Amino acid sequence: MKKLIITMATAALFSSTSALAQQSAAVQADIDAFQGYFLKTFPNLSLQDFSKGPYAMSDDKMMQFEAIMEMPPFEDLLEKGGDLWNKPFANGHTFSSCWKVSDAEIRTLYPRWNAAKGKVETLEQGLIDCLVSNGEKKWGTGKGKHAWVASHLTTLAEGQVINVVVPEGDAAALAAYNDGKRFYWAKRGQLNLSCANCHVGGAGKRVRGNTLSPALGQSTHFPVWRGKWAKSKGDGFGTMQRRYGGCNKQVRAKPFKRHKSQYDNLEFYHTAMSNGMEISGTEYRE
Ligand code: HEC
Repeated sequence: MKKLIITMATAALFSSTSALAQQSAAVQADIDAFQGYFLKTFPNLSLQDFSKGPYAMSDDKMMQFEAIMEMPPFEDLLEKGGDLWNKPFANGHTFSSCWKVSDAEIRTLYPRWNAAKGKVETLEQGLIDCLVSNGEKKWGTGKGKHAWVASHLTTLAEGQVINVVVPEGDAAALAAYNDGKRFYWAKRGQLNLSCANCHVGGAGKRVRGNTLSPALGQSTHFPVWRGKWAKSKGDGFGTMQRRYGGCNKQVRAKPFKRHKSQYDNLEFYHTAMSNGMEISGTEYRE
């Protein structure tokens, strides 16, 4: 009996520590400063407004965006993502069987620190791991059906809040976060520009016909469907790490491989900066 009580108490302790993992104080200070900067620089915008990126900066653009979102050009592919999500694997299981939470909550778990593996896990890697653990072939990443299924989960999670936690006292988690933070602020490429040069200091300014989106809120609507991607290669869908690659190329730096530590840690930092913002489902971008 005593043993049982101890086991139960330990189980309760473990479940409560994982559910209530405290945000690292250093990370919370970064988030407050980051969000504070944007709220001060754009006093007309509320925290949630930043989710609409460049469209939040212009009434005309916002009207065009809203008109497109009334009949989104990606609806059919999003539906295909839902079909793939529900389609049984050869072993009879579906994707859902890889998670213990409801389908609508899965997106909110990521990116997360996996202490046992000592690394950051992203939603998109979770999908690939699920295929592999069910004996299925891996899919190509970043676009196509990989992005459609991730978009299906993003759309189911609409209205839930981003909450990336770097557990207080976990030195390895903090090191991964700091690695992502360094990546974000480091100048790179022939143009010698950091992510922050364009999306923090440059937010709202125009570059080659584009209005630069604020970094705050960029994580609320990914994967996105981009008109530009639909015109060039593929069907318009792209994951966050596909976008990181595109932005690295813009400064003529060599992109990193998707789902390796560089972009995973970057995604950890970049998403945490939007903590407290609502996931808005997959959206259109130019
Ligand atoms: C030379 C300027 C420049 C740099 C440097 C740059 N980007 Fe971008 N980025 C753009 C432009 C232009 C767009 C398209 C318009 C927009 O949404 O800002 C874009 C779009 C994005 C988007 C999509 C936003 C959305 O809502 O669809 C993300 C995310 C992003 N960048 C992240 C990054 C990250 C992370 C880095 C650093 C690795 C980076 N960018 C570096 C110019 C830049």
